[in-house]
This record gives sequence, C-alpha cells and structure tokens, in this order.
Amino acid sequence: MKLDAKLLAAQEVTTAYQRRGVRRAAHVLLPTGAYAWLRGWRLRFNGSALGRRAHLAGGAMLDLASRSGVLAGLHYTLFSREFDREHRSVLAARARHISDVFAGRGNLYMLRRNVHRIEKGLIMKPARPIFALAMIEDTVRAFGDCLHSVDCGGQQDVVSLQWSRQVLDEYFSRVHDHDIVARARFAYDATIARHDARLADDRHRAPFKRLPDTGLPTIEHMEAMALYRRSVRWFTDRPVPREVIDRAVEVAGASPTACNRQPFRFAIYDSPEAVAKVGAIPKGTPGWLHQIPCFIVIIGKFDAFRYERDRHIPYIDGCLAAMSLIYALEAQGVSSCCVNFPDYAETEKRMAETLGLPAWERAVMCLAIGYPDLDERVPYSQKLPLDGLRQYNKLA
Ligand SMILES: Cc1cc2nc3c(=O)[nH]c(=O)nc-3n(C[C@H](O)[C@H](O)[C@H](O)COP(=O)(O)O)c2cc1C
Repeated sequence: MKLDAKLLAAQEVTTAYQRRGVRRAAHVLLPTGAYAWLRGWRLRFNGSALGRRAHLAGGAMLDLASRSGVLAGLHYTLFSREFDREHRSVLAARARHISDVFAGRGNLYMLRRNVHRIEKGLIMKPARPIFALAMIEDTVRAFGDCLHSVDCGGQQDVVSLQWSRQVLDEYFSRVHDHDIVARARFAYDATIARHDARLADDRHRAPFKRLPDTGLPTIEHMEAMALYRRSVRWFTDRPVPREVIDRAVEVAGASPTACNRQPFRFAIYDSPEAVAKVGAIPKGTPGWLHQIPCFIVIIGKFDAFRYERDRHIPYIDGCLAAMSLIYALEAQGVSSCCVNFPDYAETEKRMAETLGLPAWERAVMCLAIGYPDLDERVPYSQKLPLDGLRQYNKLA
C-alpha cells in the first residue's frame, strides 16, 4: 500500500509537467474524482476503435497542414503553441547578436567565425591574392569591439583575440592592393597600437602544418573504449576530482564546431545540494538522482547566431562536445549517463531560473557523471548492426 502510494506520487510528478492546455485546465477546475474519471475515460477511448479512428483523422489533419508553410504556421498559431519558446529564444538571441555587433560590445562568436573563414582563405589552393573583402572591415571592427569589451571586464577569452591578431597579421601581410583592405588595415593598425601589450603572445596561433602523430590511440583502443562505455546510473560515493572533470572539459572543448564559433558552455554541479536541485529538473533521473555525484548541464549559446538558419547549431556542436566529454571522462575511469532535456515550458523555466540563464541560452542536454558502482548492472542496449547503420552512394 505504501509502495503503491509512492508509485502513484511518482506518476503524478511525471504527468504534472506533461499536462498542458485542456488537460491542465481540467486538472485545475475539476474535483479530483471527476478528473480521474475523465482520465480513465480518455485512456479507454484511446484504446477503442473509435479512438483509433479519431487519432487517424488527427494525423490526416497534420499531414494536410504539413503540405504548406502557411497551413503549418496557422496550425502552430491556432492549435498548438509548442514552438513559442523556440521562436522567442531565437528572436532574443538574434536581438542580442545584432545589438552586440552594432552597439559596439563585440560578438566573440561572430569574430571567431570570421577569423576562421579568413584562416580557410589563407590555406586555399591555389593561393588567392585577394579574398574576404565582404567581411574584413566587419571583422576588424569586431576585433576592436571585443578587445574593448575585455578592457571593460565584459569577456575573458583573450586567447581568441590573440589568435585573431595572428591570423589578421598574416592576412594583411598577404592581401593588399584594394581600397577595402587598405581601410581595414588602417583601422586594424590603430587597434593594435592601443592593445599591443594585451595581445603579446609567444605561441603560434595561425595556419600551420601538422607533424605526423604516432602517439594517437589505435582503432583497437577506440573500439575497446566505445564497446566498454555504457550509460551508467549507479555510482559509488567517491567524489569526482575537479582536475579530472576539467581535463575532460578541455578535451570536449577541442571538438569541431560550425565555423569554430564554440557556442556552448558546461555548467557543472558537484555539491550534493546543487546536484539534487539541478538534477531534478529534467525528470530523466527518477530513482537514481539521490546518488549522482556530479551533474553537468550543456548550455547552448544562441546569441552566437544572427540568422534562423543556424538555430540548430548549438545542439549539434553541444552534442559533439558532449560525446568527447563522455569519452574523456571514461578514459579517466569516470562513467556517465546522458539525461534528456525535453522541451517543456515548465522544465525550461525552472532550468533558466535555477541556473540564471538569459533568454539566449538554453540547456541542450544534461550528463550525470561519477565513478561506476561495478556491483550494479547496466542495460545491454543492443546497437544497430553495420547494415542498419550505413549505406554507401545511396541516392534518391
Ligand atoms: C540525448 C539522450 C538523452 C538521454 N536521456 C536519458 C534520461 O533522461 N534518463 C536515462 O536514464 N537515460 C537517458 N539516456 C541514456 C540512454 O537511455 C542510453 O544512452 C541508451 O539506452 C543507450 O545505452 P548506452 O548509452 O548504455 O549505450 C539518454 C541518452 C541520450 C543520448
């Protein structure tokens, strides 16, 4: 009886955040008995022949709406507001990006993107005498703005600016003979004269030739690591040292990102109170949250982008980095389990409030980490066979 009550309470927590619209109104307005009766009726209806037909009719309406942008827009205006939060966060991020760029605060993501594109121009074959005309002035302006922002304590990433300086030095040493380049060069020299000391650097941070590396892990090591790794949900109470986490985060930070913008950060919680508080938000940890030693939230920085077409990049880049993080932890004996962060209004609001996220930052995914309790089992989790995973040269 006691267990039943616990199970019911757990189910109540799971369904509470899933209740939206009419369901939420019915839950608030109706007496408990009437709501339970309605819920039972709905479950019976869903399983009946009539219910199946109603669902199929609903599916057909969705199919119809999917055939035109206007109909799809109407659907998501009149019948569902599920994309409201994405719309609002993309707009807030675009607004932030534009105000960074045009109010002179500097947007480091935009600078990194442009400098990366200039680096690609520098390694292009055959070498081009003139390139990057469309962005060189914006890049120099962003460089100056970001340096100013460092001076004002606005951002801390000096290494990106040292890298930008070396790449721009090489660009201006190679590209001349154009009015636009001459104007950009004039502004660049003035910026360097103001900030030369801050940018002093004895490390080479521009295109380079790699030496052949013989110290890399073999495919056997990679296979062993990939096959050994499992999502682990039961941990020992041994704390994970911060040096171990930081080392893994540095590996994660070396992951590829779209145009090298690096639009993410890792929010790490290793105090029991913080883990209990943050780990409870995404709902993917029922029954095992109490023994998680450390909880990481991967946060996407949407202000890295000016246009809607790039709105998925923080998820892609964030998850590429997450996988590197997982392997770098595993290589140090620390196991992990990804924790889903579903797009629910209530969870998102709680995450934003608890972590203090501005409108242009969103949690992409979470990660529970700790030393594995090897006395406990892990799910087998059968993987796809090779034939189910890949196709070569398949065209429409
Ligand atoms: C994006 C993502 C979200 C996940 N969310 C959860 C979660 O909320 N709770 C959980 O117990 N496991 C979660 N997992 C772990 C998966 O269940 C697990 O990766 C999958 O079953 C394969 O097992 P394996 O990781 O051991 O290979 C998640 C995994 C991913 C990649």
